[in-house]
Amino acid sequence: DMGGHDTYMHKEISEQPDAVDRVLRGRIDDRFSTVHLGGLNLDAREARGIRRVKILGCGTSYHAGLIGAGLIESLARIPADSEPASEFRYRNPVVDPDTLYIAVSQSGETYDVLAAVQELKRKGARVLGVVNVVGSAIARETDGGVYVHAGPEVCVVSTKCFTNTVVAFALLALHLGRIRDLSVADGKRIIEGLRRLPSQISEVLESEDEIKKLAAEYADAKSMMFIGRVRGYPVALEASLKLKEISYIHAEAYPASELKHGPLALIEPALPTVAIVPDDELLEKNRAALEEIKARSGRILAVAHQEQEKADHTILVPKNEDELDPILMGIPLQLLAYHTALALGRDIDKPRNLAKSVTVE
Ligand code: F6R
Repeated sequence: DMGGHDTYMHKEISEQPDAVDRVLRGRIDDRFSTVHLGGLNLDAREARGIRRVKILGCGTSYHAGLIGAGLIESLARIPADSEPASEFRYRNPVVDPDTLYIAVSQSGETYDVLAAVQELKRKGARVLGVVNVVGSAIARETDGGVYVHAGPEVCVVSTKCFTNTVVAFALLALHLGRIRDLSVADGKRIIEGLRRLPSQISEVLESEDEIKKLAAEYADAKSMMFIGRVRGYPVALEASLKLKEISYIHAEAYPASELKHGPLALIEPALPTVAIVPDDELLEKNRAALEEIKARSGRILAVAHQEQEKADHTILVPKNEDELDPILMGIPLQLLAYHTALALGRDIDKPRNLAKSVTVE
């Protein structure tokens, strides 16, 4: 049942305020400015002993893991990174007892992720899951974890589950942070930011008509560039994947700082750039990248907290705490991919060559 929407993708994008509300519900502890994660199965002493965090997932879940790693580094000050699960399992990784491994999966059935979990467990590692489907294979094989509570996701490409996974990582990062060195004041600041998300997501969804018009302007592109810096880079990666999957327009994502090391050669009017430009300590750096693109007559669509002078168009999103901004900045780009695919007449819920869960190697 699409509940009045033309596609499951549109329905699932629209459900995000409620979905985020669900992942937060019952978990916030205002008294200690932290969160409770019932199924984590990691006590405070163990949490203090973690030296590194390694996040593993595929596709969109890998991208959510990249944002998750950033959240864990900034809130819990534990070195963290995310890697495609398949790459990890094929390179005979060093499995380290002081590293916390986290498997991320919407379906909980992705074979490459499951195989990585099984190999890690066999070697005695502690592996947690950040999973949507309750009781799925990955949820069962992990030692504990955080359920994402996005509800069933039918469209082949992931939207609400991506957003909820990132929020689940914010909760985990806050929890680990408050056991380690995150102050009460910062805990409070993040909790207040998390609570603002559902209504701010609704606000972003209200700009759908404007995004639809922009999609029509850019739908003739043969290829698109997505750029972001630090927190913005995984947002660019995910937006680029979404556009490719459902519109079949070629897209790639680069860290903004890497432009000058090669891809700047591609910039011309026929290759538009989507730039993630949050109002944070990197704003001036990001503006400089826009200038470099403009100097080569590149068209720019910015996703930002304030109008960008160098951009041809700016999609404005509400500001949250710097750490949580990536969550909101991804949402208009789901709509951009959606409306681009719609303008091109694509089969949005069932893109060619793709399956909802990849249970083969
Ligand atoms: C992208 C998409 C895929 C999945 C990937 C992992 O929109 O849906 O990239 O994210 O196949 O799937 P899960 O999260 O079920 O392990």
